[in-house]
Amino acid sequence: MTLLLAVKGWAIAPWFDRFSRLLPDRRIVGLGEDYDPAEIRYAATWKQPPGSLANLPNLQVIFSLGAGIDHLVRDPHLPDVSVVRIVDADLTARMSEYVVLHCLAHLRGWRYYAEKQRTHVWDDDRDEPAASDVRVGIMGMGVLGGDAARKLAVMGFQVAGWSRTPKAVDGIQSFAGEAELDAFLARTDILVSLLPFTPQTQGFIGRRIFAGLARDGRIGGPVFINAGRGATQNEADLLACLDDGTLAAATLDVFETEPLSDTSPFWDHPRVTLTPHNAATSDPDAVAASVAGQIRGFEAGEPLRNLVDMRAGY
Ligand SMILES: NC(=O)c1ccc[n+]([C@@H]2O[C@H](COP(=O)([O-])OP(=O)(O)OC[C@H]3O[C@@H](n4cnc5c(N)ncnc54)[C@H](OP(=O)(O)O)[C@@H]3O)[C@@H](O)[C@H]2O)c1
Repeated sequence: MTLLLAVKGWAIAPWFDRFSRLLPDRRIVGLGEDYDPAEIRYAATWKQPPGSLANLPNLQVIFSLGAGIDHLVRDPHLPDVSVVRIVDADLTARMSEYVVLHCLAHLRGWRYYAEKQRTHVWDDDRDEPAASDVRVGIMGMGVLGGDAARKLAVMGFQVAGWSRTPKAVDGIQSFAGEAELDAFLARTDILVSLLPFTPQTQGFIGRRIFAGLARDGRIGGPVFINAGRGATQNEADLLACLDDGTLAAATLDVFETEPLSDTSPFWDHPRVTLTPHNAATSDPDAVAASVAGQIRGFEAGEPLRNLVDMRAGY
Protein backbone atom coordinates (compact mmCIF):
# COMPACT_ATOMS: atom_id res chain seq x y z
CA MET A 1 0.00 0.00 0.00
CA THR A 2 3.03 2.26 -0.41
CA LEU A 3 2.66 5.64 -2.14
CA LEU A 4 5.53 6.65 -4.41
CA LEU A 5 6.16 10.39 -4.80
CA ALA A 6 7.56 10.69 -8.34
CA VAL A 7 8.16 14.43 -8.41
CA LYS A 8 10.77 16.41 -10.33
CA GLY A 9 11.29 20.18 -10.25
CA TRP A 10 9.34 20.66 -7.00
CA ALA A 11 10.61 20.24 -3.45
CA ILE A 12 9.49 16.81 -2.33
CA ALA A 13 9.57 17.45 1.45
CA PRO A 14 6.28 19.41 1.64
CA TRP A 15 4.50 16.66 -0.32
CA PHE A 16 6.02 14.04 1.97
CA ASP A 17 4.73 15.97 5.00
CA ARG A 18 1.23 16.41 3.55
CA PHE A 19 0.81 12.76 2.62
CA SER A 20 2.34 11.53 5.90
CA ARG A 21 -0.27 13.60 7.72
CA LEU A 22 -3.16 12.54 5.50
CA LEU A 23 -2.19 8.85 5.19
CA PRO A 24 -0.41 8.09 8.49
CA ASP A 25 -0.88 4.34 8.06
CA ARG A 26 1.02 4.23 4.72
CA ARG A 27 4.63 4.17 3.74
CA ILE A 28 5.51 7.18 1.56
CA VAL A 29 8.71 6.98 -0.50
CA GLY A 30 10.39 9.18 -3.07
CA LEU A 31 12.11 8.22 -6.31
CA GLY A 32 15.65 7.00 -5.67
CA GLU A 33 14.86 5.90 -2.11
CA ASP A 34 15.25 2.30 -1.01
CA TYR A 35 11.96 0.51 -1.69
CA ASP A 36 10.77 -2.80 -3.12
CA PRO A 37 9.08 -2.11 -6.51
CA ALA A 38 6.39 -4.66 -5.54
CA GLU A 39 5.26 -2.58 -2.56
CA ILE A 40 4.19 0.45 -4.67
CA ARG A 41 0.40 0.61 -5.18
CA TYR A 42 0.01 4.33 -5.95
CA ALA A 43 2.17 7.01 -7.56
CA ALA A 44 1.69 10.74 -7.07
CA THR A 45 3.54 12.44 -9.90
CA TRP A 46 4.76 15.69 -11.38
CA LYS A 47 7.19 15.72 -14.32
CA GLN A 48 8.63 12.37 -13.26
CA PRO A 49 11.60 11.19 -15.36
CA PRO A 50 10.22 9.06 -18.23
CA GLY A 51 10.31 5.39 -17.34
CA SER A 52 10.36 5.94 -13.60
CA LEU A 53 6.90 4.39 -13.19
CA ALA A 54 7.78 1.27 -15.23
CA ASN A 55 8.52 -2.04 -13.53
CA LEU A 56 6.23 -1.47 -10.55
CA PRO A 57 4.27 -4.76 -10.79
CA ASN A 58 1.53 -3.83 -8.29
CA LEU A 59 1.01 -0.19 -9.29
CA GLN A 60 -2.73 0.48 -9.56
CA VAL A 61 -3.28 4.23 -9.80
CA ILE A 62 -1.17 7.17 -10.99
CA PHE A 63 -2.22 10.61 -9.74
CA SER A 64 -1.07 13.87 -11.27
CA LEU A 65 -0.23 16.45 -8.61
CA GLY A 66 -0.43 19.38 -11.02
CA ALA A 67 -3.00 20.52 -13.55
CA GLY A 68 -2.36 18.94 -16.93
CA ILE A 69 -1.04 15.47 -17.53
CA ASP A 70 1.49 16.24 -20.27
CA HIS A 71 4.25 14.62 -18.19
CA LEU A 72 2.27 11.36 -18.21
CA VAL A 73 1.11 11.50 -21.84
CA ARG A 74 4.72 12.10 -22.94
CA ASP A 75 6.15 9.15 -20.94
CA PRO A 76 6.60 6.30 -23.46
CA HIS A 77 7.03 3.78 -20.63
CA LEU A 78 3.92 4.70 -18.68
CA PRO A 79 2.29 1.53 -17.39
CA ASP A 80 -1.29 0.78 -18.42
CA VAL A 81 -3.02 1.63 -15.13
CA SER A 82 -5.66 4.17 -14.09
CA VAL A 83 -4.54 7.81 -14.32
CA VAL A 84 -6.30 10.48 -12.26
CA ARG A 85 -6.04 14.22 -12.90
CA ILE A 86 -6.76 17.25 -10.75
CA VAL A 87 -10.18 18.80 -10.78
CA ASP A 88 -10.34 21.46 -8.09
CA ALA A 89 -12.99 24.15 -7.60
CA ASP A 90 -10.42 26.73 -6.49
CA LEU A 91 -8.27 26.16 -9.60
CA THR A 92 -11.33 26.34 -11.84
CA ALA A 93 -12.39 29.64 -10.25
CA ARG A 94 -8.91 31.09 -10.74
CA MET A 95 -8.87 30.13 -14.42
CA SER A 96 -12.21 31.80 -14.98
CA GLU A 97 -10.91 34.96 -13.24
CA TYR A 98 -8.00 34.99 -15.69
CA VAL A 99 -10.17 34.47 -18.77
CA VAL A 100 -12.77 37.06 -17.73
CA LEU A 101 -10.04 39.56 -16.76
CA HIS A 102 -8.30 39.32 -20.13
CA CYS A 103 -11.49 39.33 -22.20
CA LEU A 104 -12.53 42.48 -20.34
CA ALA A 105 -9.04 43.97 -20.80
CA HIS A 106 -9.33 43.54 -24.58
CA LEU A 107 -12.91 44.82 -24.58
CA ARG A 108 -12.06 47.93 -22.55
CA GLY A 109 -8.72 48.76 -24.20
CA TRP A 110 -6.62 48.20 -21.09
CA ARG A 111 -3.25 48.41 -22.88
CA TYR A 112 -4.50 51.27 -25.06
CA TYR A 113 -5.32 53.43 -22.03
CA ALA A 114 -2.13 52.41 -20.20
CA GLU A 115 -0.19 53.86 -23.13
CA LYS A 116 -2.34 57.02 -23.12
CA GLN A 117 -1.65 57.50 -19.42
CA ARG A 118 2.08 56.93 -19.96
CA THR A 119 2.10 59.65 -22.64
CA HIS A 120 -0.34 62.00 -20.79
CA VAL A 121 -2.95 61.87 -23.54
CA TRP A 122 -6.61 62.50 -22.64
CA ASP A 123 -8.21 60.36 -25.36
CA ASP A 124 -11.97 60.02 -25.02
CA ASP A 125 -12.60 59.12 -28.68
CA ARG A 126 -12.07 55.35 -28.59
CA ASP A 127 -15.05 53.28 -29.77
CA GLU A 128 -16.35 51.56 -26.62
CA PRO A 129 -18.38 48.47 -27.53
CA ALA A 130 -20.45 46.67 -24.91
CA ALA A 131 -19.60 43.10 -23.89
CA SER A 132 -22.78 42.08 -25.67
CA ASP A 133 -21.25 43.36 -28.95
CA VAL A 134 -18.30 40.98 -28.62
CA ARG A 135 -18.17 37.28 -29.51
CA VAL A 136 -15.90 35.09 -27.40
CA GLY A 137 -15.12 31.57 -28.60
CA ILE A 138 -13.65 29.02 -26.22
CA MET A 139 -11.70 26.06 -27.62
CA GLY A 140 -11.89 23.25 -25.07
CA MET A 141 -15.19 23.13 -23.23
CA GLY A 142 -14.12 20.86 -20.39
CA VAL A 143 -14.13 21.66 -16.70
CA LEU A 144 -12.24 24.94 -17.18
CA GLY A 145 -13.72 26.04 -20.50
CA GLY A 146 -17.26 25.35 -19.34
CA ASP A 147 -16.89 27.43 -16.18
CA ALA A 148 -15.20 30.32 -18.02
CA ALA A 149 -17.95 30.25 -20.66
CA ARG A 150 -20.71 30.59 -18.06
CA LYS A 151 -18.94 33.47 -16.29
CA LEU A 152 -18.24 35.32 -19.55
CA ALA A 153 -21.93 34.97 -20.44
CA VAL A 154 -22.84 36.53 -17.08
CA MET A 155 -20.65 39.52 -18.05
CA GLY A 156 -22.76 39.84 -21.21
CA PHE A 157 -20.38 38.48 -23.87
CA GLN A 158 -21.79 36.37 -26.72
CA VAL A 159 -20.13 33.05 -25.92
CA ALA A 160 -19.61 29.90 -27.96
CA GLY A 161 -17.58 26.78 -27.24
CA TRP A 162 -15.80 24.30 -29.47
CA SER A 163 -14.86 20.81 -28.35
CA ARG A 164 -14.68 17.26 -29.67
CA THR A 165 -18.27 16.52 -28.61
CA PRO A 166 -21.22 18.96 -28.53
CA LYS A 167 -22.19 20.56 -25.21
CA ALA A 168 -25.57 21.71 -23.98
CA VAL A 169 -24.90 24.73 -21.77
CA ASP A 170 -27.64 27.34 -21.33
CA GLY A 171 -26.82 30.51 -23.26
CA ILE A 172 -23.63 29.10 -24.84
CA GLN A 173 -23.57 28.21 -28.52
CA SER A 174 -21.99 24.79 -29.07
CA PHE A 175 -19.73 23.77 -31.95
CA ALA A 176 -17.97 20.41 -32.19
CA GLY A 177 -15.32 18.70 -34.24
CA GLU A 178 -13.50 19.58 -37.43
CA ALA A 179 -16.80 19.90 -39.35
CA GLU A 180 -17.93 22.89 -37.24
CA LEU A 181 -14.54 24.52 -36.65
CA ASP A 182 -14.73 27.05 -39.49
CA ALA A 183 -18.21 28.23 -38.44
CA PHE A 184 -17.00 28.57 -34.84
CA LEU A 185 -13.98 30.64 -35.86
CA ALA A 186 -15.99 32.82 -38.27
CA ARG A 187 -18.27 34.02 -35.41
CA THR A 188 -15.37 34.65 -32.94
CA ASP A 189 -13.71 37.98 -32.06
CA ILE A 190 -11.79 36.77 -28.99
CA LEU A 191 -10.50 33.20 -29.22
CA VAL A 192 -9.70 31.61 -25.84
CA SER A 193 -7.88 28.28 -25.81
CA LEU A 194 -8.29 25.95 -22.88
CA LEU A 195 -7.35 22.87 -24.89
CA PRO A 196 -5.17 20.20 -23.31
CA PHE A 197 -1.93 19.04 -24.89
CA THR A 198 -2.59 15.85 -26.88
CA PRO A 199 -1.14 14.40 -30.09
CA GLN A 200 -4.16 15.95 -31.90
CA THR A 201 -3.83 19.44 -30.40
CA GLN A 202 -0.03 19.71 -30.68
CA GLY A 203 0.77 22.78 -32.83
CA PHE A 204 -2.90 22.95 -33.81
CA ILE A 205 -3.44 26.68 -33.22
CA GLY A 206 -1.64 28.34 -36.09
CA ARG A 207 -2.30 30.52 -39.10
CA ARG A 208 -5.21 28.42 -40.34
CA ILE A 209 -7.03 29.06 -37.05
CA PHE A 210 -6.13 32.77 -36.74
CA ALA A 211 -7.03 33.49 -40.37
CA GLY A 212 -10.47 31.96 -39.81
CA LEU A 213 -11.45 34.39 -37.03
CA ALA A 214 -14.07 37.12 -37.59
CA ARG A 215 -12.73 40.33 -39.11
CA ASP A 216 -15.91 42.38 -38.69
CA GLY A 217 -15.88 42.61 -34.86
CA ARG A 218 -16.04 45.73 -32.69
CA ILE A 219 -12.65 45.39 -30.94
CA GLY A 220 -10.34 46.28 -33.80
CA GLY A 221 -9.36 42.79 -34.96
CA PRO A 222 -9.18 39.20 -33.74
CA VAL A 223 -7.63 38.49 -30.34
CA PHE A 224 -6.09 35.24 -29.09
CA ILE A 225 -5.87 34.21 -25.43
CA ASN A 226 -4.06 30.97 -24.55
CA ALA A 227 -4.21 29.65 -21.00
CA GLY A 228 -4.32 25.96 -21.97
CA ARG A 229 -0.98 24.54 -23.10
CA GLY A 230 1.85 26.21 -25.03
CA ALA A 231 2.53 23.18 -27.19
CA THR A 232 -0.92 23.61 -28.78
CA GLN A 233 0.15 26.90 -30.42
CA ASN A 234 2.43 27.32 -33.43
CA GLU A 235 4.53 30.26 -32.21
CA ALA A 236 6.11 31.09 -35.57
CA ASP A 237 2.60 31.45 -37.02
CA LEU A 238 1.41 33.37 -33.96
CA LEU A 239 4.19 35.96 -34.30
CA ALA A 240 3.73 36.26 -38.05
CA CYS A 241 -0.04 36.73 -37.62
CA LEU A 242 0.49 39.43 -34.96
CA ASP A 243 2.98 41.19 -37.23
CA ASP A 244 0.87 41.09 -40.40
CA GLY A 245 -2.40 42.08 -38.70
CA THR A 246 -4.15 38.71 -38.97
CA LEU A 247 -4.30 38.99 -35.17
CA ALA A 248 -4.76 42.32 -33.41
CA ALA A 249 -3.48 41.16 -30.01
CA ALA A 250 -2.72 38.16 -27.83
CA THR A 251 -2.65 37.28 -24.15
CA LEU A 252 -0.38 34.32 -23.49
CA ASP A 253 0.04 32.41 -20.25
CA VAL A 254 1.64 29.35 -21.84
CA PHE A 255 4.48 28.81 -24.31
CA GLU A 256 6.06 26.04 -26.36
CA THR A 257 9.13 26.25 -24.12
CA GLU A 258 8.86 27.34 -20.48
CA PRO A 259 10.31 29.30 -18.84
CA LEU A 260 10.17 31.65 -21.82
CA SER A 261 13.66 32.46 -23.10
CA ASP A 262 14.71 36.03 -22.26
CA THR A 263 15.37 36.57 -25.97
CA SER A 264 11.83 35.60 -27.00
CA PRO A 265 10.18 38.26 -29.19
CA PHE A 266 6.98 37.84 -27.16
CA TRP A 267 8.43 39.80 -24.20
CA ASP A 268 8.61 43.10 -26.06
CA HIS A 269 5.88 42.60 -28.62
CA PRO A 270 3.65 45.71 -28.53
CA ARG A 271 0.46 43.68 -28.85
CA VAL A 272 1.26 40.81 -26.50
CA THR A 273 0.38 40.57 -22.83
CA LEU A 274 2.11 37.67 -21.16
CA THR A 275 2.03 35.93 -17.80
CA PRO A 276 4.31 33.13 -16.49
CA HIS A 277 2.00 30.12 -16.70
CA ASN A 278 0.12 31.11 -13.58
CA ALA A 279 -3.39 31.63 -14.92
CA ALA A 280 -4.61 29.04 -12.43
CA THR A 281 -2.31 27.68 -9.79
CA SER A 282 -3.39 24.72 -7.70
CA ASP A 283 -3.51 24.64 -3.91
CA PRO A 284 -1.15 21.79 -2.88
CA ASP A 285 -3.07 21.10 0.34
CA ALA A 286 -6.32 20.69 -1.61
CA VAL A 287 -4.58 18.46 -4.17
CA ALA A 288 -3.01 16.21 -1.52
CA ALA A 289 -6.34 15.94 0.34
CA SER A 290 -8.07 14.98 -2.89
CA VAL A 291 -5.47 12.28 -3.72
CA ALA A 292 -5.61 10.85 -0.18
CA GLY A 293 -9.42 10.87 -0.29
CA GLN A 294 -9.42 9.05 -3.62
CA ILE A 295 -7.01 6.39 -2.28
CA ARG A 296 -9.26 5.75 0.71
CA GLY A 297 -12.39 5.69 -1.46
CA PHE A 298 -10.74 3.36 -4.00
CA GLU A 299 -9.83 0.91 -1.25
CA ALA A 300 -13.40 1.08 0.05
CA GLY A 301 -14.63 0.03 -3.40
CA GLU A 302 -15.69 3.46 -4.71
CA PRO A 303 -14.97 4.36 -8.34
CA LEU A 304 -12.06 6.71 -9.01
CA ARG A 305 -13.10 10.22 -10.08
CA ASN A 306 -11.50 12.45 -12.75
CA LEU A 307 -10.01 9.54 -14.67
CA VAL A 308 -7.97 10.37 -17.76
CA ASP A 309 -8.77 8.66 -21.05
CA MET A 310 -5.18 7.85 -22.01
CA ARG A 311 -6.22 6.87 -25.54
CA ALA A 312 -7.64 10.38 -26.10
CA GLY A 313 -4.72 11.87 -24.15
CA TYR A 314 -6.74 13.99 -21.69
N1 LIG B 1 -2.41 27.93 -17.53
C1 LIG B 1 -2.70 27.33 -16.39
O1 LIG B 1 -2.36 27.82 -15.31
C2 LIG B 1 -3.48 26.06 -16.41
C3 LIG B 1 -4.03 25.56 -15.22
C4 LIG B 1 -4.80 24.42 -15.26
C5 LIG B 1 -5.01 23.73 -16.46
N2 LIG B 1 -4.46 24.23 -17.61
C6 LIG B 1 -4.69 23.53 -18.89
O2 LIG B 1 -6.08 23.56 -19.21
C7 LIG B 1 -6.40 22.37 -19.89
C8 LIG B 1 -7.89 22.11 -19.84
O3 LIG B 1 -8.27 21.70 -18.53
P1 LIG B 1 -9.70 21.05 -18.24
O4 LIG B 1 -9.72 20.63 -16.82
O5 LIG B 1 -10.78 21.96 -18.73
O6 LIG B 1 -9.63 19.77 -19.20
P2 LIG B 1 -10.84 18.82 -19.65
O7 LIG B 1 -11.96 18.89 -18.67
O8 LIG B 1 -10.22 17.49 -19.93
O9 LIG B 1 -11.36 19.48 -21.02
C9 LIG B 1 -10.65 19.42 -22.21
C10 LIG B 1 -11.55 19.97 -23.32
O10 LIG B 1 -10.80 19.99 -24.53
C11 LIG B 1 -11.57 19.37 -25.55
N3 LIG B 1 -10.66 18.72 -26.51
C12 LIG B 1 -9.65 17.88 -26.28
N4 LIG B 1 -9.06 17.50 -27.44
C13 LIG B 1 -9.76 18.13 -28.42
C14 LIG B 1 -9.64 18.14 -29.83
N5 LIG B 1 -8.70 17.43 -30.46
N6 LIG B 1 -10.50 18.91 -30.53
C15 LIG B 1 -11.47 19.62 -29.89
N7 LIG B 1 -11.63 19.67 -28.55
C16 LIG B 1 -10.77 18.92 -27.83
C17 LIG B 1 -12.41 18.34 -24.85
O11 LIG B 1 -13.51 17.96 -25.66
P3 LIG B 1 -14.71 17.01 -25.15
O12 LIG B 1 -15.43 17.79 -24.07
O13 LIG B 1 -15.55 16.79 -26.34
O14 LIG B 1 -14.05 15.78 -24.58
C18 LIG B 1 -12.78 19.11 -23.58
O15 LIG B 1 -13.90 19.92 -23.83
C19 LIG B 1 -5.54 21.32 -19.18
O16 LIG B 1 -5.29 20.21 -20.02
C20 LIG B 1 -4.27 22.06 -18.84
O17 LIG B 1 -3.31 21.80 -19.83
C21 LIG B 1 -3.71 25.37 -17.62
